[in-house]
Amino acid sequence: MILIVGGAGYIGSHVNKVLNERGYETIILDNLSYGHEESVKWGTLCKCDLANINEVDDIFTKYDINAVMHFSSFIDVGESVRNPEKYYNNNVVNTMNLLNVMLKHDVKKFIFSSTCATYGIPQKIPLTENHPQNPINPYGWTKLMVERILKDYDTAYGLKSVILRYFNASGADESGIIGEWHNPETHLIPLILDAAMGKREDIKIFGTDYDTPDGTCIRDYIHVTDLADAHILSLEYLNKNNQSNQFNLGNGQGFSVREVIESVKRVTGRNFNVTQTQRREGDPAILIGSSKKAKDTLGWDPQYVNIDKIIETAWNWHQKLNKE
Ligand code: UFG
Repeated sequence: MILIVGGAGYIGSHVNKVLNERGYETIILDNLSYGHEESVKWGTLCKCDLANINEVDDIFTKYDINAVMHFSSFIDVGESVRNPEKYYNNNVVNTMNLLNVMLKHDVKKFIFSSTCATYGIPQKIPLTENHPQNPINPYGWTKLMVERILKDYDTAYGLKSVILRYFNASGADESGIIGEWHNPETHLIPLILDAAMGKREDIKIFGTDYDTPDGTCIRDYIHVTDLADAHILSLEYLNKNNQSNQFNLGNGQGFSVREVIESVKRVTGRNFNVTQTQRREGDPAILIGSSKKAKDTLGWDPQYVNIDKIIETAWNWHQKLNKE
């Protein structure tokens, strides 16, 4: 059985779907603080908090768990600056609880959701896995600390891990039954979709004076179903007794904030107000990743390379979520 920690959240719920479609049995550990019970449509949900080691231990005693995928992190970069304690406690201390219970039960395969935010300000684009890691906010540091812990746990205890550094996760499963559902929402695409629906007055562009062709930030948007596929491939990779490894997961292409807004207008056929405001703190101008290593080593073959297609799946879900 595969334990999906944070399986009621955005990416975890998509990975849960794909795992079940491929015949894996899943246990979902989630405290439902940000995740949604409605998103757990496959596997067995155990409502549990990683801070409660005894409860986590009980789950490992009750189920025959072979590998763990860990998604349950806090992800709001701005909040991590204002309230680092919340981030270090959940993203680092709680992850250590999980790893220590895994060791106790001799479970030694771990797939970890890390982030391109561990690289900090890029020195070279596209970012490759060996780019120096110098995070510029506590969120990025929490992820990098866990990466370091995993290296040491491998050396000392033989715990094998695949670290997946996501670029900008986006889109929704084609079925439209699960998708991006954050509360509060801070991510660009769902916020633009809210504007397209008239749920927001406008979409604000955070900074139009970046050193990019149209002055707005460029990001690498990777579809959540492609991310899910990479997790299955990582599991298969560990099941073949390979060494621990780290991979970027990105589309390899960048789209500016303005290009994403234009795509939403094309796909939805709706118009809405776009306003310009000052830069958001901590935003690098361009983040684009090279995923060559994941393609070469894992055989990963992302399918959603077109921004309109990504937006189309996000829009399909967004309309259902908002009962439009
Ligand atoms: N943006 C706007 N207006 C908005 C919201 C966002 O212009 O209302 C811009 C941002 O400034 C940024 C781009 O849109 O340039 C994308 O912003 P997101 O907040 O959607 O995502 P980030 O690029 O900030 O993502 C980062 C890291 C991820 C990390 C994530 C955590 O790249 O690795 O934060 O939520 F996981």
